[in-house]
Amino acid sequence: MLLQSLIIVFTAIARPTLAACNLSYEALQQVTRDYISSQATGAFATTASSASYTENFRTVNIRTGLLSKALRVNHTRSIHDTTECATFTEYVVTDPSHPYVIGTQIRLTPDGQITQIDSIVTDAGDWLFNATGTQYYASREDWFVIPAETRDTRATIRAAGDAYLDLFNNPSVVVPWGTPCARLEGGAYTGQGRPTDSCNVGVPSGVPLTNRRYVIDERVGSVDVFLDFGNNQIPDTHEFRVERGRLRFVHTMTATGGA
Ligand SMILES: *[C@@H]1O[C@H](CO)[C@@H](O)[C@H](O)[C@H]1NC(C)=O
Ligand SMILES: *[C@@H]1O[C@H](CO)[C@@H](O)[C@H](O)[C@H]1NC(C)=O
Ligand SMILES: *[C@@H]1O[C@H](CO)[C@@H](O)[C@H](O)[C@H]1NC(C)=O
Repeated sequence: MLLQSLIIVFTAIARPTLAACNLSYEALQQVTRDYISSQATGAFATTASSASYTENFRTVNIRTGLLSKALRVNHTRSIHDTTECATFTEYVVTDPSHPYVIGTQIRLTPDGQITQIDSIVTDAGDWLFNATGTQYYASREDWFVIPAETRDTRATIRAAGDAYLDLFNNPSVVVPWGTPCARLEGGAYTGQGRPTDSCNVGVPSGVPLTNRRYVIDERVGSVDVFLDFGNNQIPDTHEFRVERGRLRFVHTMTATGGA
């Protein structure tokens, strides 16, 4: 028994995953810049060839998956998590030959090795898909850097996102709605550009949103969550922008089954 406890203790101490992320915000920005710029040729698949790679939560060969294809990126925005060594990128390809809206979480070791790349890939036929619509609305929003004195904590940002997600399966959850607030779902937008715009315009009920994987960026008040949507476990990302503890923007991509 004692030996077993000691083994457990030593294993815990030796686990390299316990090390804190040792990457600066700028280092993580370089990762997302490389990801976006090399998607123009597909070269990121070579840069990150040892990483595990999924598309819509299915393992895909990184050398032959979408990451290895040349895509012309029309809109992009990334967030960077210096606690978890992780990033999230939203990007839109309006190329009429095959439009896409893609959300990608990248995870790295504390010293910057890319270990995991997970993409939600949406295209024609997916929930409210409209790449030109996504580009149009997303590029008009202001995700400014939050001044240090009004920046929310990781816990506050995450709790705001979780409250919204919990609402799908628990109508009594208190969500910190902000005003104005706009939802971009696929290429559809709830915002009218009015100061009274609300995100409290209804969500489905009885839908558990499970297996949540977070990327949190305090600098822009944002949390991205990859999750299994409902009992059919549809691959989904919900990204939230939080200002002074309240929801400002919600972006979703849901891979209900496109082309
Ligand atoms: C963290 O990174 C710095 C700069 O690259 C390096 O000098 C330092 O040794 C690293 N610390 C750990 C614990 O790896
Ligand atoms: C999308 O990006 C490509 C490549 O940069 C460009 O040629 C095209 O005009 C852009 N389309 C739109 C709708 O912005
Ligand atoms: C997609 O969004 C654009 C920009 O808002 C809009 O003009 C277009 O009608 C939309 N297309 C469809 C099929 O809804």
